[in-house]
Amino acid sequence: MKKLKNIKAVIFDLDGVITETSDLHTRAWKKMADEENIPFDEKTADKLRGVSRRRSLEIILEEAKNKYGFEKTYTKEEFNKLMTRKNGYYRDSLSTITPDNTLDGAKEIMDFIKSRGYKIAIGSSSKNAEAVIKNLKIEDQLDAVVNGTEITHSKPHPEIFQSVADKMGLAYEHCVVVEDAAAGVESANAGGMVSIGIGPQERFKQENEKPDFRFNDMSDFNSKKEELF
Ligand code: BG6
Ligand code: MG
Repeated sequence: MKKLKNIKAVIFDLDGVITETSDLHTRAWKKMADEENIPFDEKTADKLRGVSRRRSLEIILEEAKNKYGFEKTYTKEEFNKLMTRKNGYYRDSLSTITPDNTLDGAKEIMDFIKSRGYKIAIGSSSKNAEAVIKNLKIEDQLDAVVNGTEITHSKPHPEIFQSVADKMGLAYEHCVVVEDAAAGVESANAGGMVSIGIGPQERFKQENEKPDFRFNDMSDFNSKKEELF
């Protein structure tokens, strides 16, 4: 395996990389969708990885229409209310997150990277990222955080990871991004950073979504840390 060269920082995505909030997001969307009789399946859920709240609801409605012929349309106000309702369900579930809820290998690799003298940071599209980070009790380890309230353009736009690098005063090419979402890998690639994809190969289909390195999960990534850093 190639070693990472000239690296000064590792920027982690949060949902689906440090902790499995993806399940909580899915459950919150599913509850709202069920109440509205909007068809919602696993495949649709996987398309929401790393995608903003607004875009997620657009995808849910597009998929429901295309796959199941769901015809109902929502006014702007109704659409916003659906997003708010989902977020309420998601916020309710955040109280279940404790330091034990980091994904296998995530804590270990963060500690290792820090011990090697690299900076570590988080770039999350979530407007709830702060609450999640607080419940995981990892904030003291982080050199920078940028969350969904601080950006104008969602992933796959490079803004989020570039903002994290800017906060740390680092050149983009000196940063590595760790992402479970195709949109996130695309964002890192577009931002001129090294990208590490976490998840199955099929997830990163398009050319611009291909990560420089890929691991099946955080445990797999952690097991290769000595070779990489
Ligand atoms: C991303 C998640 O981190 O944040 C997405 O992967 C989510 O599933 C997005 O939609 C926005 O999160 P929030 O908490 O602002 O609705
Ligand atoms: Mg993610």
